[in-house]
Amino acid sequence: MRLPSHKLFMIAILALAVLAVGSEKAEAFHQGGAGECEGCHTMHNSYEGMPVTPTSPVGSVGAYLLKGSDASSVCLNCHQKSGDIGPTSFHISTADTDMPVSSPPRQLPPGGDFGWLKKSYTWIPTLGGTPLNSPGDSHGHNIVAQDYGYFSDSYKTTSPGGFYPTASMGCTSCHDPHGKYRRSADGSIGSAGTPIKDSGSVSSSPDPDPLQSVGVYRLLGGVGYKPKSMSGGFAFSYNPPAAVAPDIYNRSETLAQTRVAYGSGMSDWCRNCHANIHTDALPTPLKHPAGYPNGNLSADIRNYYDQYIKDGDLTGIEANAWLSLAPFEAGTTNYTTLKALVTATPAKGPSITDGTPAVMCLTCHRAHASGWDGSMRWNNRTINIVLNGLYTGGQAGQAFQPNAQGRTELEAQRAYYDITTGTFANPQRTLCYKCHVNGSE
Ligand code: HEC
Ligand code: HEC
Ligand code: HEC
Ligand code: HEC
Ligand code: HEC
Ligand code: HEC
Repeated sequence: MRLPSHKLFMIAILALAVLAVGSEKAEAFHQGGAGECEGCHTMHNSYEGMPVTPTSPVGSVGAYLLKGSDASSVCLNCHQKSGDIGPTSFHISTADTDMPVSSPPRQLPPGGDFGWLKKSYTWIPTLGGTPLNSPGDSHGHNIVAQDYGYFSDSYKTTSPGGFYPTASMGCTSCHDPHGKYRRSADGSIGSAGTPIKDSGSVSSSPDPDPLQSVGVYRLLGGVGYKPKSMSGGFAFSYNPPAAVAPDIYNRSETLAQTRVAYGSGMSDWCRNCHANIHTDALPTPLKHPAGYPNGNLSADIRNYYDQYIKDGDLTGIEANAWLSLAPFEAGTTNYTTLKALVTATPAKGPSITDGTPAVMCLTCHRAHASGWDGSMRWNNRTINIVLNGLYTGGQAGQAFQPNAQGRTELEAQRAYYDITTGTFANPQRTLCYKCHVNGSE
């Protein structure tokens, strides 16, 4: 049989594609765009004779021929790996077997390790008082990833300050699995335009040029985005933020902090699902500005952020003021500036030579999950985050434990990204004080 020429052409293209894939670095997959289809889709739910979806038999397939029971399980096929001994590159979740009771999750990416959602704590706040709880569900965004034991939030039915349904929450609520959104040479963001050449998220990422664009920050969804499977009016109204992460972003911060240069637009992006949070419309748990222009840091706050190293120590300067546990956004979309901020050592504080710095959602929260309630970067439900030289205040293992609230010292330190207590004062109050001289108000 003679194949028509267009079929031969297709076969040649496929063969070339296979060669190209085979020669790629093991670490590259999405490259700012769609990635290899077979990474996420399968025709038969089988790979080397074994089912790829643990909960269903060979031959059956998930919706959209996905290699998992749901979209987020597909992501975790690669983004979680059991046996990781420490922070590992693009892994953002710790397997159950690697975090037994009293041991913390192991990944330390800026967005956070979803493993914290599986850690629940109980403690007694005052001697003789009734026990309080910090349930796993309250530690961040509850993704539905059934193959990996993640289920939707049991306390909230929709996003606070918005109406996104918790039952539909998953990796693809926020990240576009096909990475369609791109940043073009003129700085504009959209789901169409010149082809995507690479990730635009890290400091070594190439810049876009007139012929090729780069992926948006972390493959996040932009204007009009919602997962194909979702019906209803949940399409995003804001584009992904401008930001640059360091090349090595998932690591212990004992020796050096991980500085993400948040540029601008993060708070608006979160408002895709939390339009009214921390405003007059929903002032609980607190009213607070975020992002440009209401969250702009005044000259007083910028100076104070620079000077404040810890309680009682105001000897800091702009050049070394950054604190990864209370970051700010630089207030710019200039990627030359952002890349310079990522690599500057030590990490720099807010400066009007870089842009219009502002407080934003990720000043206080982590995007995925954290070791504390409300996905907070620090424990905001205690007076002192350090007491008696310890995050647990020396009460670890005891029922009466207001400081680290049931966590072990190791768990608490991991929740602070392995930054040691010696970095802080003893005692040290919550990190609202990094910006506010007199505390919360
Ligand atoms: C990173 C994982 C991933 C990769 C890589 C991927 N997909 Fe998908 N794809 C998904 C997920 C998840 C869905 C389901 C989306 C939803 O829940 O609505 C999907 C849905 C689809 C759909 C149906 C819905 C739609 O969006 O039209 C098509 C068609 C599709 N993918 C084609 C492809 C092709 C072709 C490729 C390779 C170029 C590819 N996918 C690569 C994850 C992926
Ligand atoms: C076949 C393995 C594989 C699957 C499946 C997979 N990823 Fe990834 N992902 C990677 C690798 C490898 C990297 C790091 C290198 C890179 O960016 O390509 C990565 C990086 C990322 C990044 C950072 C990219 C950037 O440019 O900053 C995001 C965000 C991400 N993945 C989200 C997802 C989501 C969401 C899904 C599911 C829809 C998914 N991944 C499925 C392998 C995978
Ligand atoms: C609520 C929205 C949201 C959900 C849900 C979400 N992500 Fe993310 N993700 C983000 C944001 C925002 C960032 C950037 C965080 C930063 O730079 O501080 C990010 C960062 C990442 C990164 C880069 C490493 C890091 O932590 O900065 C990877 C990889 C990633 N996400 C994968 C995933 C996977 C896989 C899932 C599902 C298991 C998921 N994300 C669910 C919003 C989300
Ligand atoms: C796609 C919609 C969506 C986006 C985008 C989104 N969220 Fe959420 N968020 C939700 C939903 C739904 C819930 C409630 C369910 C849950 O907690 O898992 C929630 C809950 C939260 C909570 C409470 C967590 C807890 O356990 O108490 C915080 C804090 C939060 N989001 C912050 C953010 C921040 C910060 C961003 C931007 C980086 C963001 N969200 C982006 C949908 C979203
Ligand atoms: C100045 C710090 C700060 C900033 C900035 C901030 N938050 Fe919060 N947020 C908090 C605190 C503190 C809580 C309560 C945490 C807890 O559960 O103990 C909270 C709680 C939340 C909750 C859960 C509310 C509930 O009813 O359970 C959501 C959702 C949320 N924040 C989203 C956001 C979003 C989106 C932004 C940006 C627009 C943002 N936050 C900016 C400090 C902040
Ligand atoms: C990165 C700096 C930064 C951090 C950290 C920070 N704030 Fe703020 N806060 C601001 C800015 C900027 C404003 C805007 C008004 C101003 O200049 O005081 C503000 C305003 C406020 C207001 C007045 C809000 C209003 O609209 O009436 C309160 C209350 C407040 N902050 C409490 C807190 C609490 C509580 C925390 C810790 C959970 C915190 N802040 C952490 C920068 C910060």
